[in-house]
Amino acid sequence: MANSSFQSPIAKKLEGKVAIITGGASGIGAATARLFVQHGAKVVIADIQNDLGNSLVKQIGTEQTIIYVHCNVSIESDVKNVVDATIAKFGKLDIMCSNAGVLGKPISSILDVDHDIIKDVFDVNVVGAFFCAKHAARVMIPNKKGVILFTASASTVVFGAGVPHTYASSKTAVLGLSTNVGVELGKYGIRVNCVSPYYISTPLVVNGFGVEEQKADKWFEEGGNLKGALLDEQDVANAMLYLTSDDSKYVSGHNLILDGGFSTTNVAITEAYKKLFPSND
Ligand SMILES: NC(=O)c1ccc[n+]([C@@H]2O[C@H](COP(=O)([O-])OP(=O)(O)OC[C@H]3O[C@@H](n4cnc5c(N)ncnc54)[C@H](O)[C@@H]3O)[C@@H](O)[C@H]2O)c1
Repeated sequence: MANSSFQSPIAKKLEGKVAIITGGASGIGAATARLFVQHGAKVVIADIQNDLGNSLVKQIGTEQTIIYVHCNVSIESDVKNVVDATIAKFGKLDIMCSNAGVLGKPISSILDVDHDIIKDVFDVNVVGAFFCAKHAARVMIPNKKGVILFTASASTVVFGAGVPHTYASSKTAVLGLSTNVGVELGKYGIRVNCVSPYYISTPLVVNGFGVEEQKADKWFEEGGNLKGALLDEQDVANAMLYLTSDDSKYVSGHNLILDGGFSTTNVAITEAYKKLFPSND
């Protein structure tokens, strides 16, 4: 029907699925929660920002479709509880998005690192990811299906790009965990993947770097490889929808890098040439 104003409903890619999204009260997790509900999923947001989480679930849906559960991912009993609460409320768990994360203290030298600085980041980003994988696997293995998706980072593939050593190494650990767990769980039909975004001006970045949002956007646009586009939370949510739906039914052990080609570039040698041989430029 050409020129028809009739709009067909969107194909719901997660109809009947139940998902937990840790760190779902803000940023990438919040955008993903919204998109998952639009695609028919029942969603549990697990976070430590109770007011934000509770108000977000009211905006997104009803308590038949989305709930908030307090969960500090670095405490195993909290993660166990959110998985059990999900089963109690919605009857099963199909998708675990281990997305909660922190940037940590902005240190620029290895000489500034101490145990507390390492622990603050690793407790959330790495220990939390272990607990999410463990408790998701606990309920997915008997069902012989499920999807575990970690939000890692482009810092798993490009280094020295302005993030603290603690953050870069924690995200590389998440990638290692994801890949190894994917090998173990393949025999149970459970897919395990990472999504690895470039910079986005979420609270993690804006507060972490202490740069206001507009300036941060400008910084990421200037530093990016792909011009005329700026990565945002919705783009990551779209990738997370792909990696958790049957569209990616044979994708496991993958690290989906969403960086517009940033990690494939190295401008240093060209910049050095321009600096050293300006007359040849
Ligand atoms: N924004 C970026 O540039 C970027 C790039 C690559 C990867 N990431 C990753 O994306 C994920 C989401 O971050 P975001 O950018 O949306 O930031 P955000 O700050 O908007 O969201 C992070 C969420 O995690 C929650 N959280 C923090 N500690 C927690 C804990 N102990 N238990 C439970 N929840 C906790 C926060 O309350 C917050 O709601 C993180 O894992 C981050 O490392 C972000």
